[in-house]
Amino acid sequence: MFTLEGKTVLITGAAGGIGAACARMFSSHQARAVAVTDLREESLKALSRDIHSQTGLEPLAIAGDLRDEATVKRIVQSAVEGMGRLDVLVNCAGVSRLGGLYEVTEEQWDFTFDINVKGLFFLCREAFRAMQRQGGGCIVNLSSQAARSGGLVVSPDYPASKAAVLALSKSLAKVGAKHQIRVNTVSPGLIATDMTRDFGYDPASVPLGRIGNGDDVAGACLFLASDYASYITGACVDVNGGIAMI
Ligand SMILES: NC(=O)c1ccc[n+]([C@@H]2O[C@H](COP(=O)([O-])OP(=O)(O)OC[C@H]3O[C@@H](n4cnc5c(N)ncnc54)[C@H](O)[C@@H]3O)[C@@H](O)[C@H]2O)c1
Repeated sequence: MFTLEGKTVLITGAAGGIGAACARMFSSHQARAVAVTDLREESLKALSRDIHSQTGLEPLAIAGDLRDEATVKRIVQSAVEGMGRLDVLVNCAGVSRLGGLYEVTEEQWDFTFDINVKGLFFLCREAFRAMQRQGGGCIVNLSSQAARSGGLVVSPDYPASKAAVLALSKSLAKVGAKHQIRVNTVSPGLIATDMTRDFGYDPASVPLGRIGNGDDVAGACLFLASDYASYITGACVDVNGGIAMI
């Protein structure tokens, strides 16, 4: 089994389905310390208490809005100060909406890109500063199957933002390699979380016969964050039950 022995981890979007699954799985696989961040402070604190009661490790909860660069800096600095160093960053925060071409407003476009792309970029850059000082680290960014397929029911700003995550992660992987910072993406298909509650998808249309869950994605993130993936960077791992094989 993959472990994160001795590593410190920061997970964004941790009050959400995939982020919470990552926080639980990383905490129970020997991470030395875990920090979690999200807009939703109460859910974050409840998650930390729950993980503490189950694993003995209490994640550091840092609330904040990732659309603001100064807040992103505060979050990463608090995580580094609280845990002593930052070995792994997992970027799960994200937004999507159902909708068609003519329903996208300028405000919606900016909202989606501010969280899914801008916030993620500044998080990665702040993590780079800490990881470069330490001599290495690892980043896992959540993209989406929609980045390459265009998506099914989501509004067009979403696949565009997730394609940006893929390209950005490869760009960062090139810069990071000389500092021993690995950067990879995980592209989920349809995973049962708050985000997809209204998507109405038929499990029978998934080759593996079921909709995915948070643990399906967290497992891929755990592998990429572990030393078992120490020669993997700039890669994208698809977690989609076989819906798309690109
Ligand atoms: N669920 C899926 O089927 C699926 C498929 C492909 C990709 N993804 C991606 O996986 C990631 C996690 O998705 P999920 O299904 O867990 O969604 P979710 O809605 O359950 O969780 C997303 C979390 O991000 C947080 N967030 C949103 N805006 C924020 C902001 N400005 N600042 C801080 N936090 C903010 C939310 O509060 C929420 O807790 C997202 O990036 C999503 O795009 C999900």
